Amino acid sequence: MDRHLPTVGSRPPAPEAEPVDLAPDELEAEIRRLKRERNAVILAHYYQEDELQDLADHVGDSLQLSQAAARTQADVIAFCGVHFMAETAKILNPGKIVIVPDLEAGCSLADGCPAPVFARWLEGYPGHTVVSYINCSAQVKALSDVICTSSNAVKIVKALGDQKIVFAPDRHLGAFVAKQAGRPDLVCWQGTCIVHETFSERRLIELMAQHPDAEVIAHPECHEGILRHAAHVASTSGLIEYARTSPKQAFIVATEAGILHKMRAAAPGKTLIPAPPDDESCSCNLCPFMKRNTLEKLYLALRDLRPQVDVPEPVRVRALRPIQRMLEMS
Ligand code: 13P
Ligand code: SF4
Repeated sequence: MDRHLPTVGSRPPAPEAEPVDLAPDELEAEIRRLKRERNAVILAHYYQEDELQDLADHVGDSLQLSQAAARTQADVIAFCGVHFMAETAKILNPGKIVIVPDLEAGCSLADGCPAPVFARWLEGYPGHTVVSYINCSAQVKALSDVICTSSNAVKIVKALGDQKIVFAPDRHLGAFVAKQAGRPDLVCWQGTCIVHETFSERRLIELMAQHPDAEVIAHPECHEGILRHAAHVASTSGLIEYARTSPKQAFIVATEAGILHKMRAAAPGKTLIPAPPDDESCSCNLCPFMKRNTLEKLYLALRDLRPQVDVPEPVRVRALRPIQRMLEMS
């Protein structure tokens, strides 16, 4: 395929959000009113603040949210997640308005894989099929053959048979997929997630000793030092489902701690222990990008219909194909 990149501008810096003088219950009522008035749907990822998840029409993992975006009849999609997720919704829905609470909610994986550098890197791998994790920019998607998420990456790579493959941008997910799919030759871009990268194996082992009956469950963005202790490795929705259905009563959960909100609801009475980051004093198991979104910013976005996420048409058309291919293969 043609790996030359259409020229696009970078994301403009977001202006400061104005203060909102509403009590929490008034704020929620206003969001519900604006949602009806705008015929909007609110999509939220499991890593969002609890109150945003509670207001959303759909809460899900990256694949489920893409599927919800692909089938919505709403005029406006309010995406409580990070930028690449809202971009994916826009690529699937060019005629709809896609708004985000905070335009600066980025992602270390997407930001660590700039499209021009990626395009040059790909020149070193002619004849390879490019599989990109959905945590990447629209421009990187436009350079890819098929997109995947953490819930379908192994299945998609297996379905490609013996084709030569490059995988981007998460090296830990890439290593996990290579192992699971029996593809030691997978060529991986060396990106990481700043949240999953900080979990500490030493502190995890200490925690396992304190809770010998607890099972470790982990997201595949974690490094091998964590994954080697995990009884189950899956996407956010896969981890919630496992906690719900497993006969085990206690879990050490190695992913962003926002997941605990829905996991508690799905597995009431079970003990859920967040996996420890390396530095005890930091909140490194919270994604600083996801946590930029607030109820106040969602209210302003629905009121003003901005900030909007747009994707230049030449990029959108090229990014759509690998996303559709993923949706068909899922
Ligand atoms: P999933 O919800 O698809 O497992 O992805 C996690 C993630 O990192 C989102 O940024
Ligand atoms: Fe990106 Fe990691 Fe935050 Fe997910 S948790 S949005 S992969 S930085």
